[in-house]
Order: sequence, then structure tokens, then C-alpha cells
Amino acid sequence: MTTRVGNWLDERVGWRKVWDAIFLRKIPKVNWLFTLGSASLFIALNQIFTGILLTIYYVPTPDHAYDSVQFITTQVPAGWLIRGLHHYGASAMVILVVLHMLRVIFYGAYKYPREVTWFSGVVLLLVTIGFGFTGYLLPWDQKAYWATTVGTSIAGTPPLIGDFILRIVRGGDELSAVTLARFFGVHVWVLPTILLLLTAFHMYLVIRIGISAIPKRGE
Ligand code: HEM
Repeated sequence: MTTRVGNWLDERVGWRKVWDAIFLRKIPKVNWLFTLGSASLFIALNQIFTGILLTIYYVPTPDHAYDSVQFITTQVPAGWLIRGLHHYGASAMVILVVLHMLRVIFYGAYKYPREVTWFSGVVLLLVTIGFGFTGYLLPWDQKAYWATTVGTSIAGTPPLIGDFILRIVRGGDELSAVTLARFFGVHVWVLPTILLLLTAFHMYLVIRIGISAIPKRGE
């Protein structure tokens, strides 16, 4: 029955070709370090799923942000779990993406013909760091407020353009409701859009070019 439905659909949309390209492609003999990219992908999906659930109760205003996070943690069924997965997932993602990048460096997988895969990865790393920076402010507690005060001050240190950058990032001279709204918007709309598009491109290149083999001595 399932085969018949599968065949029916395949004749119309051609899904088997896509499935085979993704899941039945040939890969060289590799080791566990080659799973770090997939682990990063898994955590990214976890962040998107739990992040969407958190927005159901989270309110991005100075009056309600802190209380809404407390409410999620103590009152919402499994809210502590969803928040915990998102909170620890954020740290795990930074660690995994960095380890994945180190694997790529140590095996020389950034070389021809994978330079563009590497460049898209560099932007993915910046996006991952951006998620951490903007997400840190959202609980709007003392730690979040002062960490972002320090972080945005650092962004304002370059000569000539520093003041301009600081005002753009904070949405004014001080941290305020505008900063919180801005960080929330970037955290839930701008960065996820870039992450999804860029991850799709990154995966397209990985599938198109194929995984690099472990380099042999003297190569
Ligand atoms: C959200 C972040 C990222 C995700 C989800 C991701 C995902 C993946 C996956 C699933 C693979 C194939 C399996 C593997 O080689 O582990 C891969 C390969 C690759 N990634 Fe990433 N990646 C990310 C970030 C990065 C970063 C930060 C870099 C480097 C700056 C990078 C550069 C590469 C390169 C060059 C390959 C090809 C490796 C090869 O052919 O051996 N990626 N990525």
C-alpha cells in the first residue's frame, strides 16, 4: 500500500530522486568527527522547534519579559523542559559548530572544491554567535541587562563609527524597550531566516560536491 502511494506520488513530484540524493549518496570511509556537522544541524532544528514554542508565552517588553520567562519556567506544563532544551541547546550549538569547523580545518576540507562551503560555514558561525548575543538579553534579568550593556559597549569601541554602531545596536544611547524589541526581532526573524537559507545552501553544496575523504599522509 505504502509503495503504491509512494510510486503514485513519485510519478507526480519525483521525490525519490531527491531522497536518494540525500540519503543514499556514496560517502568515503570516515570517522565520528564527520558527524559534527549533522549534530550541529540537529541542534539547530532543536533550537527552532523549542524557540517557536517559547514565543507562545514570551513577551518582549521590559514590563513583561522577566515575568513571562518565570511563568514559562514555573507554570507552563513542560515549560522548564522547553526552556532548558533551548538554553543548553544554545551553548551546545556554539560548541558543536566550533568543533565541526575545527574538524574541517584539521582535515583540510576547506580546500578546493569546498571553498564556498567553507565561506557559507563562516557566516553560519557568525549567525550562531549572533543568536547567542541577542538571545542572552531576552530574559531581561540583571545578568542579561548588564552583559548586553558590556557587549554593546564593546561594539561601540571602533574609532569614528563606534558611536553610530552603538546607537544602531541599542536603538538609542541606553538599553531600553527599543533594544529589547530590536534584539527579539533579530533573534526570531532575521537570524533564523539567514540560518535556514544558508544551511540549505551549505547542505546543497555538501551533497553536490560530496564529503571529502580523510587525507592520506603526504597529501
Ligand atoms: C549551523 C552551522 C552548521 C551546520 C548545520 C553545518 C552542517 C554541515 C553538515 C551536515 C556537513 C556534512 C557532514 C560533516 O562534514 O560533518 C557539513 C560539511 C561542511 N561544513 Fe558545515 N555546518 C555548519 C557550520 C560550518 C562552519 C562554521 C564551517 C566552517 C567555517 C563549515 C564548513 C563546512 C565544510 C567545508 C564542509 C565540507 C566538509 C567535507 O566535505 O569534508 N560548516 N556541514
